[in-house]
Amino acid sequence: MNITNHDIECVFQLPSENPITGICRVISELGISVNTMVEIGVASGNSIQQWRHFLPETIIHGIDPWIIDDHYNPDLPDVGFCTELGTTQAEADALYASVIEKFSADTRIIIHRGRSTEHNIPPPIDLVYIDGSHDHEAVLTDIRTYLPRIREGGLLCGHDMGVPGVTAAVLETIGTNGVLLPAFVWITCV
Ligand SMILES: C[S@@+](CC[C@H](N)C(=O)[O-])C[C@H]1O[C@@H](n2cnc3c(N)ncnc32)[C@H](O)[C@@H]1O
Repeated sequence: MNITNHDIECVFQLPSENPITGICRVISELGISVNTMVEIGVASGNSIQQWRHFLPETIIHGIDPWIIDDHYNPDLPDVGFCTELGTTQAEADALYASVIEKFSADTRIIIHRGRSTEHNIPPPIDLVYIDGSHDHEAVLTDIRTYLPRIREGGLLCGHDMGVPGVTAAVLETIGTNGVLLPAFVWITCV
């Protein structure tokens, strides 16, 4: 299947659903067992809370540097800007501390502070969700780094298809094998 710009526009016109809900619907419909997953880009941990709700037994690795740098620059709308991070390093540090506190009682949520490429979560991984830097090179790197670590039959997916860097990276890599879901989600079975 080839994803075209027309497909992307059509999917974006579908009634929106929460990104994680949509992915979990696919997991359920395909009967995929998710023992271990990785989320790249945690921010406040909202999506990790949703993964935990739908996947109560899964080991969830969340990776985020909680750092203010050019990959999250409000003046670069093509890259994207995560407002939850704040605008100062002190705010980003406070957000990291709140995430650690939020998940402290759940031993199957493992938070890694650093860039996605700095943490080597060993295979086999059942599901990787890419929602980190939306810079073209960063998304390409995330896809190329994590795709080989996903077991056969697992899922690679991500958020914000439609942000130019994300769209280009997905089309360059998994485009011919991917499917789009509402809420700007792209997903492929490995
Ligand atoms: C859109 S937010 C994530 C939102 C979160 N997934 C949710 O839905 O609640 C993007 C996050 O990616 C993080 N990020 C930026 N570059 C990253 C990298 N190289 N590796 C991992 N995370 C990164 C940012 O610090 C920011 O917190």
